Amino acid sequence: MTTATAVLDAHGLTKTFDGHTVLQGLDLEVGGGEFISVMGPSGSGKSTLLYNISGMDTMTAGSVAFAGQDLASLSQKQLARLRLTTMGFIFQHVYLLKNLCLLDNVVLPAYLAGLAPREQLNERAMALMRRTGVAELADRDVSEASGGQLQRIGICRALINQPTILFCDEPTGALDSAAAAEIMDILGELNTEGTTIMLVTHDAKVAARTSRVLYLIDGRIVGDRHQGRYDGTRHDQRHLELTEWLLEQGL
Ligand SMILES: Nc1ncnc2c1ncn2[C@@H]1O[C@H](COP(=O)(O)OP(=O)(O)OP(=O)(O)O)[C@@H](O)[C@H]1O
Ligand SMILES: [Mg+2]
Repeated sequence: MTTATAVLDAHGLTKTFDGHTVLQGLDLEVGGGEFISVMGPSGSGKSTLLYNISGMDTMTAGSVAFAGQDLASLSQKQLARLRLTTMGFIFQHVYLLKNLCLLDNVVLPAYLAGLAPREQLNERAMALMRRTGVAELADRDVSEASGGQLQRIGICRALINQPTILFCDEPTGALDSAAAAEIMDILGELNTEGTTIMLVTHDAKVAARTSRVLYLIDGRIVGDRHQGRYDGTRHDQRHLELTEWLLEQGL
């Protein structure tokens, strides 16, 4: 049964590459406002899950509904539009256009969506860049920002169309622990404001800040832990409890 608040509802989600089944018929419901981390060994299918559940890649079998709408019923064009206007993507490395300044990189998805006049988009982008502490870089080039700053730019770009859900694939994977904690603070705030987040990570310290942890082995969800919302306190304790749980999952 799908609950009224489900943002994503996957049934029998299966993905096969060259005869090798990487996602083995997953069932997963993601409720509105959830903050989910996806963990599991390298090659267990975490990225593949993210790409297939978001319609970035085409599943081999099964179904995925986004806000009650079956992704398979959409044309490629409709799917691209849905992704552009309702989903944000953040990756380990930020892919920005080198011939555009950082502000224009943030604005680009909104410009493509054509939802508001350019002036308004610039203001929205600047507000996001102020919020994430990179406003002073607006006119700079990609080569003039640090890894942590680029990740913030990537977050601004992912947020420019005010997505319902953010998909993050190891967003802190290339950052030191201080920069990683700052990125997680931003994601935590966004989630508190209502954005649903699904985040792949290898880092239990990162996952300890989310409210639900999925554990994948060989393309199956073998663990699904609800650990309550992180309120900024007891991080060490949450990290410890999660680490114990991960050990039980066979990490
Ligand atoms: N485009 C592709 N073509 C062929 N095989 C692929 C492709 N993408 C992923 N795979 C295979 O699917 C399996 C799962 O890969 P996936 O990238 O989802 O793992 P992961 O859990 O994200 O791993 P990591 O933690 O290393 O990022 C691996 O065996 C991988 O080789
Ligand atoms: Mg991966």
